[in-house]
Amino acid sequence: MILPIYLYGQPILRKTTEEIENSPELKQFIADMYETLTAAEGCGLAAPQVGKAWRLFVVDATELAEDYPECKDFKKTFINPEILELSEETCSYSEGCLSLPGISENVVRPVSLRIRYQDENFVEHEEEYSGFPARIIQHEYDHLEAHVFTDRISPIRKTLVRNKLAAIAKGKVGARYKYKKQ
Ligand code: NI
Repeated sequence: MILPIYLYGQPILRKTTEEIENSPELKQFIADMYETLTAAEGCGLAAPQVGKAWRLFVVDATELAEDYPECKDFKKTFINPEILELSEETCSYSEGCLSLPGISENVVRPVSLRIRYQDENFVEHEEEYSGFPARIIQHEYDHLEAHVFTDRISPIRKTLVRNKLAAIAKGKVGARYKYKKQ
């Protein structure tokens, strides 16, 4: 089932998220998250973006593998993730977000990271990522920490996107995919 995506201005995007336990309903919810992500043509989706304050996000960057070989097979579920280490080296890259339609801005982030998480079977993993996957993971992880990517842009750019964000929050700007009305 395709879930409505919560846009900027919805309080859920600023709520602290809670660790989750396995439940019979969770498998279906994760399947719905992937379906929602594919329908919206995104590469990552965090639970708060579909109305749940849970520590869970899914990524599917397999479509990007042609331009970013490190994205090959990068389709994964991250449950109760914890970023253990971030590289000192950073890079700047243009980001967008399904909760902030029509906005893309450069964000500086560490190039690589180490993360511990549980997969959809609640098996624990500890892995290192760099390049595009590390970027997606940090963006989605931010959602679990009640952040959106525009929190991380320069003060000047923040001023420039302020009106766009306000328009989304007021419901004057929607999305081309299914979303929750403000
Ligand atoms: Ni996002």
